[in-house]
Amino acid sequence: MSQMKHIDNIPSTPGKFKMEKSPYNRWRLHFSLAKLTFWSFVFLGVIFMFFFRSPSPPSPHSSDLSRRSLRTSSYDDPAWEKRIKASAKVRSRNGMSVLVTGAAGFVGTHVSSALKRRGDGIVGLDNFNDYYDQSLKRARQALLERSGVYIVEGDINDVALLKKLFDTVQFTHVMHLAAQAGVRYAMENPSSYVHSNIAGLVSLLEVCKSANPQPAIVWASSSSVYGLNSKVPFSEKDRTDQPASLYAATKKAGEEIAHTYNHIYGLSLTGLRFFTVYGPWGRPDMAYFFFTRDILKGKSIQIFEGANHGTVARDFTYIDDIVKGCLASLDTAEKSTGSGGKKKGPAQLRVFNLGNTSPVPVSELVNILERLLKVKAKKTIMKLPRNGDVPYTHANISSAQRELGYKPTTDLQTGLKKFVRWYLSYYGNGKKSAQ
Ligand SMILES: NC(=O)c1ccc[n+]([C@@H]2O[C@H](COP(=O)([O-])OP(=O)(O)OC[C@H]3O[C@@H](n4cnc5c(N)ncnc54)[C@H](O)[C@@H]3O)[C@@H](O)[C@H]2O)c1
Repeated sequence: MSQMKHIDNIPSTPGKFKMEKSPYNRWRLHFSLAKLTFWSFVFLGVIFMFFFRSPSPPSPHSSDLSRRSLRTSSYDDPAWEKRIKASAKVRSRNGMSVLVTGAAGFVGTHVSSALKRRGDGIVGLDNFNDYYDQSLKRARQALLERSGVYIVEGDINDVALLKKLFDTVQFTHVMHLAAQAGVRYAMENPSSYVHSNIAGLVSLLEVCKSANPQPAIVWASSSSVYGLNSKVPFSEKDRTDQPASLYAATKKAGEEIAHTYNHIYGLSLTGLRFFTVYGPWGRPDMAYFFFTRDILKGKSIQIFEGANHGTVARDFTYIDDIVKGCLASLDTAEKSTGSGGKKKGPAQLRVFNLGNTSPVPVSELVNILERLLKVKAKKTIMKLPRNGDVPYTHANISSAQRELGYKPTTDLQTGLKKFVRWYLSYYGNGKKSAQ
């Protein structure tokens, strides 16, 4: 009998659970079920955390995270894909298909619209961060949208998004302009520079290196890489190992990272060292822009001077000249040589200064603005603080002249006239003013 009981308790089919009837066994069963339920919840919790945590490093701009999760769900939206394909459509013979990162930025907007005008296919990418007035970025986006350029809202650290874009369009070129710009802000928010200028660059290059075909990449470095170099004019051969700000250090790191991806994967890479770019739709954090705003408001402006009352001067470069340099770089970029993430032969690696070769003292910039605005500025002279700015920049552009046919044609007076005209039409005569 007891043997039979024992046999009864053995499941008739291995692996199949046989119901037990005694109260003790029922209690044991309930206890085991409770334990099972508890551990199932723990297990599900772990799975949930694993799958729903953000795949890329947290953005230093808090609003990005919520936006990213909204966007991730739209990657499979056919309407979204259709917009991207329409924007990327090449309309000229031998035209190229370009992914422009930072397209809602100052330089990105001008470059995208120039490429579109000549018939290239463009897809923009920008995270619309709040480093400066987001409504200005939105206005630039609206401007581009009217000419048929679609800007995808996303972060260059979002590898899944980048892959999706490369799956949707065979980009022949990438114009990489997305970055955390500004020298002084680096002391306030250093991680934003690492996020965009280093981690973001690497995630973009990782996707480019695996794309088939690999695109050629033109990207924005900066004149700030010359740092404490005192030999002028600055030539691409001069030392760049003494950055004076974290911004400069991240751009210098970008140049070294570019070398690595060119060397290992055969990516064609051209770095452009821009010198103080200005013009319509410019950046509100730059002196020519906030001087204009403050002069119109009757607010005092600070003018810096160097050691021993030395002049602080900049090689101000008008946006249209920079755009020509960017387009010439794209046009002369050779194809990348790798495929399937493997290098097949040596690839092009270039660095060019894009400046105006004519430094102007900041005091002269203010004189020109006063004349154009017909308002006398209230000035305070201050010593140049040691927070990243260098006293003098001057580009030697012979290399860009020779290889790109680059020849800047706009002097500061002419360029500022165009900027002021835009500023007054955009913000009104001081009534509505820049933030
Ligand atoms: N304007 C200048 O004087 C100057 C001088 C030297 C170098 N540069 C470089 O040129 C490039 C363009 O500069 P700009 O003046 O147009 O600056 P910008 O700030 O107007 O444009 C950069 C754009 O990139 C976007 N962005 C930033 N981080 C991003 C990220 N992680 N993912 C996606 N988008 C991101 C921003 O929202 C912005 O719209 C930058 O790389 C900058 O460092 C500019």
